[in-house]
Amino acid sequence: MGFKLTDIVSISDFSREDIEAVLKEAAKMEEMPQKDKSGLLEGKVIASLFFEPSTRTRLSFETAIQSLGGKVVGFADAGVSSTKKGESLSDTIRTVTGYVDLVVMRHSIEGAARRAAEVSDKPVVNGGDGANQHPTQTLLDLYTIKKEFGTIDGLTIGLLGDLKYGRTVHSLMYALAKFKDVKVRLIAPESLRMPQNIIDDTKGELEIKESEKVEEFLPELDVLYATRIQKERFADEFEYEQIKNVYILGKDLLKNTKKEFRIMHPLPRVNEIKTELDETDAALYFKQAKNGIPVRQAILNMLKDVKK
Ligand code: CP
Repeated sequence: MGFKLTDIVSISDFSREDIEAVLKEAAKMEEMPQKDKSGLLEGKVIASLFFEPSTRTRLSFETAIQSLGGKVVGFADAGVSSTKKGESLSDTIRTVTGYVDLVVMRHSIEGAARRAAEVSDKPVVNGGDGANQHPTQTLLDLYTIKKEFGTIDGLTIGLLGDLKYGRTVHSLMYALAKFKDVKVRLIAPESLRMPQNIIDDTKGELEIKESEKVEEFLPELDVLYATRIQKERFADEFEYEQIKNVYILGKDLLKNTKKEFRIMHPLPRVNEIKTELDETDAALYFKQAKNGIPVRQAILNMLKDVKK
């Protein structure tokens, strides 16, 4: 079966075959000489609508578009758009899709990308919607894991930090549940636990254990996927201040891990990974961010001719 998705809104919309198709296309993009791919998006105009801040997602999408010969329009700050005048998301999307061939967007409201996809006659790619999902991050996370370990099946993956508000770990849980014999270890303080509905949705496929202490799971982990405490999602700043440094990973962590153990992080980090880890073999997070380019090139190339 070919890749049939017309929008990338939620990783839950993907089958394992869809995920594997993107990873295969990303590997092709990574290997392809620049001169052979520089015309793949020729004549295409892509909107990059970032209603919320971003460095990696926006810049890697925009780099991917330009490297394939497409053109980018859009904004990195909703404050310079007519959202500031009270325009609804639906009206913005209806208008912009009259100008472009595809929309990449990030929004603070959960479900915003789904709503945009419903009103858009062009493909919509979700670059993060509130605390809900970040599917293209998950695809690059899986690409990174597959490149490093040769497989995703059978791995033991720890998710650490803000599992309540972290959209990257929500998407990753759903994605890992599509692979075989994956064990997930959830490491978070009680107040930032993975939402129970996500655990319930995935526990049939994943072996899940929870703890507040990373030490409890370290020796069995292949990957520790750390996340930032999501300051912007806290209603109470005092609560954030109390919990912001709950996990600070340093070199001492590596005394009790497997030889092939790797640390991932969607970035940006704040204090949760000390820079002393950056030059160790375990640090995968900057390679992970770099993998955003081939993965997003793949996504754009696969969606470029979609008719909705
Ligand atoms: N990983 C990620 O989404 O980073 P940005 O917020 O910088 O896009």
